[in-house]
Amino acid sequence: MLVLGIESTCDETSCSVVRDGKEILSNVVSSQIELHREFGGVVPELACRLHIDKIIPVLDESLKVANVTLDDIDLIAVANAPGLIGALLIGVNAAKALALATGKPLVGVNHIEAHLYAAVMGEEIPFPALGVVLSGGHTSLVIMDGVGQYREVSHTVDDAIGEAFDKVAKVMGLPYPGGPEIEKLALKGDATRFAFKAGKVKDAPLNFSFSGLKTSVLYTVKGPRASQKSPIIISEEDKADVAASFQEAAFSDIAKKVKIAAKEQNCKSIILGGGVTNNKYLRKVLAERCQNLPLYWPAPALTLDNGAMIAGLGYHRFLLDGGSEPHKLEVSTQAAWS
Ligand code: KG4
Ligand code: ZN
Repeated sequence: MLVLGIESTCDETSCSVVRDGKEILSNVVSSQIELHREFGGVVPELACRLHIDKIIPVLDESLKVANVTLDDIDLIAVANAPGLIGALLIGVNAAKALALATGKPLVGVNHIEAHLYAAVMGEEIPFPALGVVLSGGHTSLVIMDGVGQYREVSHTVDDAIGEAFDKVAKVMGLPYPGGPEIEKLALKGDATRFAFKAGKVKDAPLNFSFSGLKTSVLYTVKGPRASQKSPIIISEEDKADVAASFQEAAFSDIAKKVKIAAKEQNCKSIILGGGVTNNKYLRKVLAERCQNLPLYWPAPALTLDNGAMIAGLGYHRFLLDGGSEPHKLEVSTQAAWS
């Protein structure tokens, strides 16, 4: 079955053609990062305008690269949750129009669930697995009994991990998106220099909290009780140590909770997804500290937002639930398991 996947939840417009949920024939991604960078983060109105400009050229390119036409497509899958509401609507309306014009079935796919699917694509995974979502907007641990079957174990009570990276980078005067910048700077730093710690969540010890960690970084970089607008008072060398120590604190916390949750829930594997899985230090920390279970990471081209993970999961969603009538497919800001 040939599936066309459409993704427009945030700042990437992407279309992809995937066969039977696993064989990627094309995965065209138009990133808006350069345009949002000058504003220090994603500007929703700008994101929507860029999706409108790019959706048709990206769709055409994805069919061309896959060497197929719309006639060859068996199913249209589109990310319909969660994301920026205006951005979601552009992909969803394009998908509805295609479905109505061609008579092909249409299925809505949850973007966060698809981030986890990115690591599963084409793999035989031992279930139950612990799904670890580490993205710009979400941080959660979920038990996966199979593709499409989830039980949430924990989530962040404040910032998502990617958001914490982006905010810490901003405090240090680094450009958006902050994750790759922090990773690069941390390579030159000493991770033991500052004793940062992620927050503890009373009554729900597997939940995450990164906002206190972010404030500790702010006070270290700009002085006690400083505000976001205060000047930086530490040297470039110190900044590298802050970046390395922040990363160490955040990833140690994640590794510790992943290990506990996997054990408590008798998981046979660990599946990771979301933009932060790009980080090589994260991959090293988890590989070292979770040695008893196999870890499944997305291929580098599938870590950030992309249409392939939407098409891949869309195939399974369609087999599980069937499609939606175009006029009934709605957008939503909910994660798959909330
Ligand atoms: O999964 P994603 O595309 O966003 C959502 O679906 O929300 O991930 C984007 C996030 C950003 O916060 C970005 O800073 C972070 O992933 N990120 C990284 C790295 N590359 C991207 N964080 C840490 N290290 C990286 N190398
Ligand atoms: Zn994403």
